[in-house]
Amino acid sequence: MLPERLDMNIMVIGGGGREYGIAKLLAGDPRVERLYALPGNGGMEEFAECFPIKATDLDGVCAFAGEYPVDFAVVTPDDPLAMGLADRLRAMGVPCFGPSAAAARIEASKIFSKELMKKYGIPTARAERFDSLEAALGFVSNAELPLVVKADGLALGKGVFICRTREEAEDACRELMENRLFGASGDRVLVEEFLEGPEVSVLSFTDGKTIVPMVSSMDHKTAFEGGVGPNTGGMGVIAPNPFYTEAVAEECMERIFLPTIRAMEAEGCPFSGCLYFGLMLTKDGPKVIEYNCRFGDPEAQTVLPLMETSLLDAMLACENGTLKETPVRFSNKAAANVVLVSGGYPGSYKKGLPISIDTPDEGTQIVHAGTKRTEEGFVTAGGRVINVVSVADTLEEAVAEAYSQVNKVSFENMFYRRDVGRTALDALAE
Ligand code: AMP
Ligand code: GLY
Repeated sequence: MLPERLDMNIMVIGGGGREYGIAKLLAGDPRVERLYALPGNGGMEEFAECFPIKATDLDGVCAFAGEYPVDFAVVTPDDPLAMGLADRLRAMGVPCFGPSAAAARIEASKIFSKELMKKYGIPTARAERFDSLEAALGFVSNAELPLVVKADGLALGKGVFICRTREEAEDACRELMENRLFGASGDRVLVEEFLEGPEVSVLSFTDGKTIVPMVSSMDHKTAFEGGVGPNTGGMGVIAPNPFYTEAVAEECMERIFLPTIRAMEAEGCPFSGCLYFGLMLTKDGPKVIEYNCRFGDPEAQTVLPLMETSLLDAMLACENGTLKETPVRFSNKAAANVVLVSGGYPGSYKKGLPISIDTPDEGTQIVHAGTKRTEEGFVTAGGRVINVVSVADTLEEAVAEAYSQVNKVSFENMFYRRDVGRTALDALAE
């Protein structure tokens, strides 16, 4: 039931590297007449009409969608999904790529997702939930170490504490529940077992009944090389992830992916959109570390350049319930993404610094994340500023290519990790 129309007006919500990657692909689709980005970013202005409406300004977004009008909306950031933007747009008659608020709980409440996994036998770390600090501290006082303490709600990816000592675990509980570091998000916490093994991200398209995984990937979350330093939104990605073999993929489909979408349907909140599985390949098999109710950033802009079929078709099929009949294919190539960040990120950093950008070689894309366009050119406007994304025949070539192109971009205090892909390449060499 794809729209026959050749003049669709599409609205993309958000303004990071992920939205740049998605919007750029949609802009190249001949069926797209007008592409709106709310709020978009400096780089997206080259192929989309950007409007300064925040993704979390639900009234503003809905008013825009009614006025322009919009034929299809793509909602990818977690906050507006959790706040019910997709529900509101659908209620106005605007079809939408993205889950309902009820389905977005799979990310927005770690307690919801943990209970879902427990109820439906989906492999994950053992965990206990706590609604009071006293109870959490009581449990921590004699639980086995290390422990992982997690805020229930959304916390900009910073609500997870890996605790090697009892004091660390107690501090984490206090920070979340007493000092309310992330406000209401930390009113309830999960304390869970520490798992070990390689991590894999698998993004998937789903219409609630059919699920189609994309190429696997590996994020690099810590700020510094070798897994050291504070966690960030993501400092680099490689795809495919060499630890994710075909056998593992089959096991995940059977024990995790299908059971998850069936569980969501059985709970009365079928999930449509992009369901992201954060997995750990433990010695006891793959386990779910977390779900996200959306594309990962920077995974999306790394994996989607490998897609050979139409992104728009896949997105429409998720909304129309026709994914089973829709071809979705990825190439056998590899991609690498090196994220160029503002010095100081994920702590405080300067904004407004001029960025110089030269045209990259073929096979590499300069993806804008935190940039703003001014009369003098692009300036920095966020922590993650630019992603350098290269596609090549092999992972080794993709990584080498991305690093060879990093010097096409420069700004004061630019920082990036030099070891994106190293763990993956070492694993391949073994
Ligand atoms: P999350 O925000 O839930 O993805 O957690 C952030 C990071 O913390 C993950 O990417 C893992 O590296 C780590 N992590 C989360 N839960 C666990 C766990 N149970 N055991 C070990 N590491 C974990
Ligand atoms: N890169 C991880 C995320 O988007 O949550």
